[in-house]
Amino acid sequence: MKVLNIDLGENSYPIYIEMGAIDKANLLIKEHLDCKRLFIITDTNVAKLYLGELKSGLEHEGYSVNYTIVEAGEKSKDILTLPKIYKELVNSNISRSDAIIALGGGVVGDLAGFVASTYLRGIKFVQIPTSLLAQVDSSVGGKVAVDLPQGKNLVGSFYHPKLVIIDPQVLRSLDERAFNDGMGEVIKYAFIRDYELYSQLLNFQDKDVLRSNLEDIIYTCCNIKRMVVENDEKDLGERMILNFGHTLGHAIETVGGYGELTHGEAVSIGMYQVSKISEKLGLTKEGTSSQIVELLKKYDLPYNMPEVDYDEVLKVMGIDKKNLNSNLNVILLSEVGDCFIHKTNIGFFEQLISD
Ligand SMILES: NC(=O)c1ccc[n+]([C@@H]2O[C@H](COP(=O)([O-])OP(=O)(O)OC[C@H]3O[C@@H](n4cnc5c(N)ncnc54)[C@H](O)[C@@H]3O)[C@@H](O)[C@H]2O)c1
Repeated sequence: MKVLNIDLGENSYPIYIEMGAIDKANLLIKEHLDCKRLFIITDTNVAKLYLGELKSGLEHEGYSVNYTIVEAGEKSKDILTLPKIYKELVNSNISRSDAIIALGGGVVGDLAGFVASTYLRGIKFVQIPTSLLAQVDSSVGGKVAVDLPQGKNLVGSFYHPKLVIIDPQVLRSLDERAFNDGMGEVIKYAFIRDYELYSQLLNFQDKDVLRSNLEDIIYTCCNIKRMVVENDEKDLGERMILNFGHTLGHAIETVGGYGELTHGEAVSIGMYQVSKISEKLGLTKEGTSSQIVELLKKYDLPYNMPEVDYDEVLKVMGIDKKNLNSNLNVILLSEVGDCFIHKTNIGFFEQLISD
């Protein structure tokens, strides 16, 4: 089993990565958590596949286990989902010494993490991420949140799990589009920090070969996120580099209407379009955007701008909560495998229109 330790002083925690790890989750949890009761939060899709075995495995170890199942999808990451869950926790007699388990994709992870950070002023929690995006990104780094009608992730905190258990085998039940969505983030890590990962991904013969290497790939991605988060736990500087392609990606997602493009697809377009501009401005090594296209194409991810109103896209970027005081921090590649933070303003993206 591969193990990564996130070193954040008293908030440190291990990440276990192995094919079939979910079958050992009960033993790993037993090793780390000294409590009587566990409360699993999962969604309708994941519950059908993995809840039963996890629950009986934990009961076998002597835990009393209760659970709640939210509707699959972003809609459940809503502030209005919280009262029902808090009530169920109280009814299940979950105390400060007990723990919550997040079993699912990024929606369940963010929601369960937020619940854990607030219930009884904070109780322990465990992440068992089941989507590729959650395994390489959202389960690591301690950002937990719920959405408000005014926008995504507007209420949240930094709250770390006690351990993360990653089983790449569960990704077999993910549909193709959801898997590709996560690949957008995997590819992002290669572009910003790891030329070797870039060549590895480029040289895999096909998706079956990729799948047989997932343990290593996920480890590499989590390790990059580990280094970045350890240097900048509260997202005040370096952690920004994880947003490569995201400012434009979010704006395209918003203008295109959430749901039309997946997050990974929108970020893929963002990564390419931003690099095309920066290459033109001489900030990125010539040929980089062609290398980006080559990899995105290989994993069936888009790179051309969709048919959207460009003025609307610029407007959304202008009011993005990260772009205060009209200054804009854009993450650019100097070349594949290396990135930097470029301080600019919205004028940078006006190049999109002139193209
Ligand atoms: N906290 C962070 O740092 C961070 C980072 C990136 C994204 N996020 C958040 O993550 C969320 C998106 O996560 P997501 O893409 O995992 O979405 P998701 O949780 O909605 O999962 C996508 C779909 O896949 C299904 N699913 C999950 N695992 C499955 C499996 N093994 N087999 C079959 N179906 C499965 C889910 O039921 C859902 O329908 C967003 O809310 C985003 O804001 C958080």
